[in-house]
Amino acid sequence: MIAQDFISKPFSKHISSGSTTWSSPSNIALVKYWGKREPQLPENPSISFTLRNCKTITTLRYSEKKNDGNFSFEIFLDGEKKDDFKHKIETFFNRIKAYAPFLEHYHFTIETKNTFPHSSGIASSASGMSALALCLVDLEKELLQLNDMEGFSANGDLSSDKKSLLDDYFLKKASFLARLGSGSACRSLQGPLVVWGHHDEIEGSTDLFGVSYPFEVHKHFRDYQDVILLVDKGEKQVSSTIGHNLMHGHPFAQERFKQANRNISNLKTILKEGNVDAFINIVESEALTLHAMMMTSQPYFILMKPNTLKIINSIWDFRKKTGSKLCFTLDAGANVHVLFPGNETQKVLDFINNELVVYCENGNYICDQIGIGAKKI
Ligand code: PMV
Repeated sequence: MIAQDFISKPFSKHISSGSTTWSSPSNIALVKYWGKREPQLPENPSISFTLRNCKTITTLRYSEKKNDGNFSFEIFLDGEKKDDFKHKIETFFNRIKAYAPFLEHYHFTIETKNTFPHSSGIASSASGMSALALCLVDLEKELLQLNDMEGFSANGDLSSDKKSLLDDYFLKKASFLARLGSGSACRSLQGPLVVWGHHDEIEGSTDLFGVSYPFEVHKHFRDYQDVILLVDKGEKQVSSTIGHNLMHGHPFAQERFKQANRNISNLKTILKEGNVDAFINIVESEALTLHAMMMTSQPYFILMKPNTLKIINSIWDFRKKTGSKLCFTLDAGANVHVLFPGNETQKVLDFINNELVVYCENGNYICDQIGIGAKKI
């Protein structure tokens, strides 16, 4: 598919007002996306586990307004008006308006809430942007008469084959729009594993949107848990946009992009064969490489905190001592995601409570696990 496939057809239905609500989860990358080019396209493919508990629930209310060429919207987080989010949404609307021409025809009220605390240092952009993109595509679906649109499913008398084709288009378009809001958001709609970015060995993978990982996954990886240790709940020191841009002209960038491709090739075999040790090796190396890119950019920065390193060392000691298969990964921040197979849950939770909780701000952590993606509420 190409971007033009997502340009809307002329609407034939008139809707004066309404609302739609979607819930969409966060995701954690195993092979990281770091480095992009216009318009929000990744320099390398990435693959992530979709999470289950950390999610955003967004209601989009819309009422018709005069089309004066302007966007009109307000945003509420947990019932509180959030004017500081407006700039980000305005940028998002500007990026997607060619694909969502109805944006200028409505006044929107966006009511959003997260299942995780806003000040947890967990980026809500992946879950938030994907939930909003889903609401928008849902409205577009309403605006199109069924027969105008091969694109969308409806409750009409479609054959089930056609219906699933239409659902497929809906998800692709929502992921395509979510990507334009925040790159990693395009990996949140489906689960449990999603690939974003073209990879030669993954049929259907594309820079335009996330696709469900299409190959066999060994049972060892089907019930993975993710405990997020909240080391630093502060706002991000460096926005991911700035971070991505620092990959332009970065001395190690080209080698890094090749490495991500290689890691995904290797992960394919690992996921199929259930080789957890090789999985750990790739996942931890990816996390450290992401931070190494930040430490070697110009300007350089360090997002890990002393407690991040203490946790990493404790995980390595614990693994050595007990043979546990837990491992860590990091986002662009100090918090640590502890990943492990479901059958180790009690053992790892005991370890976290006994040894790692002291490194968390106010002893806080969040228990999550892999999930299957977004849903309409
Ligand atoms: O989606 P963005 O632009 O906030 O980028 C996030 C990138 C990482 O979270 C650091 C890695 C990834 O692939 O999710």
